[in-house]
This record gives sequence, C-alpha cells and structure tokens, in this order.
Amino acid sequence: MRKLFKSPSQIISVSTSGKNYKSGNNMNDVGIIANHSVVVEDGIIKDIIPNSSINKSSYEKNIDLKDKIILPGLIECHTHTAYAGSRADEFRQRLQGKTYEDISKAGGGINTTVQAIRKLAFEELINLTKPRIEYFISQGITTLEIKSGYGLSYYDEIKILQTVDNLKNIYPIDIISTFLGAHTFPREYKNDHEKYIDIIVNEQLPYIRKNKLAIFCDAFCETTAFSPEQVDRIFSKASDLGYKLKLHSDQFNTIGGIDVGIKHKVKSIDHLEVVANEDIQKLSKTKIVCVLLPGVSFFLDYGFAPARKLIDSGAIVALSTDYNPGSSHIANLNLIMSIAALKMKMTIEETISAVTINAAKALDIHKKVGSIEIGKKADFAIFDTKEYADIVYNVGKNLNCMTVKSGNVIYNNE
Ligand code: NIG
Ligand code: FE
Repeated sequence: MRKLFKSPSQIISVSTSGKNYKSGNNMNDVGIIANHSVVVEDGIIKDIIPNSSINKSSYEKNIDLKDKIILPGLIECHTHTAYAGSRADEFRQRLQGKTYEDISKAGGGINTTVQAIRKLAFEELINLTKPRIEYFISQGITTLEIKSGYGLSYYDEIKILQTVDNLKNIYPIDIISTFLGAHTFPREYKNDHEKYIDIIVNEQLPYIRKNKLAIFCDAFCETTAFSPEQVDRIFSKASDLGYKLKLHSDQFNTIGGIDVGIKHKVKSIDHLEVVANEDIQKLSKTKIVCVLLPGVSFFLDYGFAPARKLIDSGAIVALSTDYNPGSSHIANLNLIMSIAALKMKMTIEETISAVTINAAKALDIHKKVGSIEIGKKADFAIFDTKEYADIVYNVGKNLNCMTVKSGNVIYNNE
C-alpha cells in the first residue's frame, strides 16, 4: 500500500546521511525540510518529494498534515515501566529531608517495589502496565525500552520479562526488553551478595537468553548496588551468551563503572550525573551513547549530568525519562526535553536529536529507525504546530496529535 504524508509545515528529518547517530555540534542539525511530503510504501519510507510534484491519484491513502510538523517517531530508550505499587510514602519522606540513598540503605527504594511486584500475578502486572504504554504512544513514542529489575529472583525476573513479552503482542509499537537482574541486591541476599550474583550468572542469564526474553543485559554500578568487579563478572557471562549490554553508572558515586562499560563495549551508559572529567574524555572517544536522565535530578533534587561538557567533547548524547516509581516518577518525554534544555543547557535541536536518532543508537536500532530517511521504517510523531521549537517551549504539554508506526496511524487525537 502506498501512502502520502502530505504537505506538513516542516519535516524534521534528523537525517544523518547514512551515519545513523549525531555527536558534538552535529546534534544541532535536525535536517529541516520544507514544502515536501513523505511517501510510504509497505511501512517503509520510500521517498521525500516536493509538494509541487504530487500526483494525488498515485496513492491509496493521503494523510493531510497541513499546519503540522512531522518528526521521526520518538524513542524512549530507558524505562522501568513494568513496576507495581507506589513509593509516595518514600516521596513524602524525601520531602521531609531523607535522601534517596538513605531510604535505599534502610532497605527501601528499589526493594520496596520488589516486594510489591512479587505479590502480583502476571495478569495483574499486564493490566498495570497497559495504560502506561498507551500514554507513551499518545506522546509520539514508537519504540519503548522496558527493563526488569524489580523481581530480583529467578521466578520474578522472568515474570516481568514474560509480561513485557506479552505486551509486545498487544501494542503495535516496538518494545525492547532489557534484563536488569543486577539492579540491586534483594533483601534475602543482603549478606551474601556473591550468592545472588551466582543466581544471575548461572540461572537467570541462561534461561532468559534461551527463551529470547531480553535483548539487553543491564546492571546498576553504584555503592548501594553492584561494584565494577561484580558488573564485570555479570557482563562477561552475558556477552558470552550473546546479550547486548547497557549500564547504569555514575548516578551518585564515581566508582569505576565507566571503565567496565568501555571494556565490555556496552551500547549505552546511562545516568552520568556525577561523571568525572577524565571519564567524559574517555566516553567521547567511543561510540557508546551517553543516556542522560534529567528527570532523576529533578525528581530527587540534585545535580544534573554535564550534558554540555559531554556534547562539546563530542560524545553521543540521548535523553530518556527513566520512568520508574522511585527516582523519576515522570512518564512525560516532552517534559524531559524541556528540563534538558532549561537545566542542562541543551539546545532545542540537541534535545530532538537526543530522543530520536541517538536514542535509537542507544538501543542499537539506529539503522532502522530514528530519522526520516529513505529505507527506514515509517515511524512518525506528528505535532500540532508549525514550528518545532514549540515542542520544547510548551513545557510538559503534549503537542503530538498523531503517532504512526510502520506507516499505520496508531494514535490520532483529532
Ligand atoms: O534508573 N538507578 C537505578 N535504578 C533506577 C531507579 C529505580 C528505583 O528507584 O525504583 C534508575 O534511576
Ligand atoms: Fe534506570
């Protein structure tokens, strides 16, 4: 089927001329094309043609985008969307002066959510997660990464990943699963960390891989979670089994996570709120995507990641919500773009590159999605405005009016 996405005010193509990521100053080039339309055939972008050459009768469907702008479908590359329970009580404690780390050292934090999820049946977790995915779709998100990491036992980690697998059959967007068994140590292994790592390495990783329940393996390298040596052991096994890797690192403390990430050629290192200058230099010499999560700094009220230093050093920077119940209870990617601009001094264009092509690279799908280029999947976010700056200028407001996945309109608020 041939479709025409006709006459938008602007096409924000985020084109990379075949490179499929943007670093340094190139993040400012969002590839604006005026007076053109996008031709889609069988779910793939076939052509971008001048409006003057349109022959309406050659298309089975014309989608009129007058006074609207079209962007690549947005990519949410770091979320913990399949969670259960509420941490409003811990939120209240933080407002009264306790820190996130205090709460986590006292056995709360991630482990509070673990207790909630272990009580839930598979179907209940599916029902809890559904509206969250629908909210992402309404924002123009066409690819969504979801991590496990709130089960922390063989059975419960698999339960979360099976839930995510089931949701892939319900929703038309691409959902990418990440195994995060190394999120923190569960209460029952508080005094025997090596035993829990044995379970990850000998039981969870092989089963999950064999049953194709996750593409990525992630770990949290932090004083309250896993040491660089422990991450090294988990990543060595995960690599051997064929997982792609990601890492949470330098959120509160610099303990050597960056070196382990570089050693294992991870696709992305996420957080980086306290990344050291020398590590910025190391990262900028790699193709590892630095996924920044300003919602965490905002929600936990502490310092933001040095986005400017990273970009100015030539690193590849992406943005994501990190949507989760404890450190970033924010599911609004538009708000994250505005926070990144206001608090991390990213330009409007940089925030756009960061939630499209660079977020795609963080998930290693940058050759297929993330920009409006011939041959890529016809994944689009269509915004009800004539000027792309409005997306970031309208703080927290959803201007997306249509979400298109593989050429099909999957959300339309008109
Ligand atoms: O990415 N840093 C570790 N994990 C999550 C927080 C999870 C939680 O607090 O529930 C994060 O911030
Ligand atoms: Fe996270």
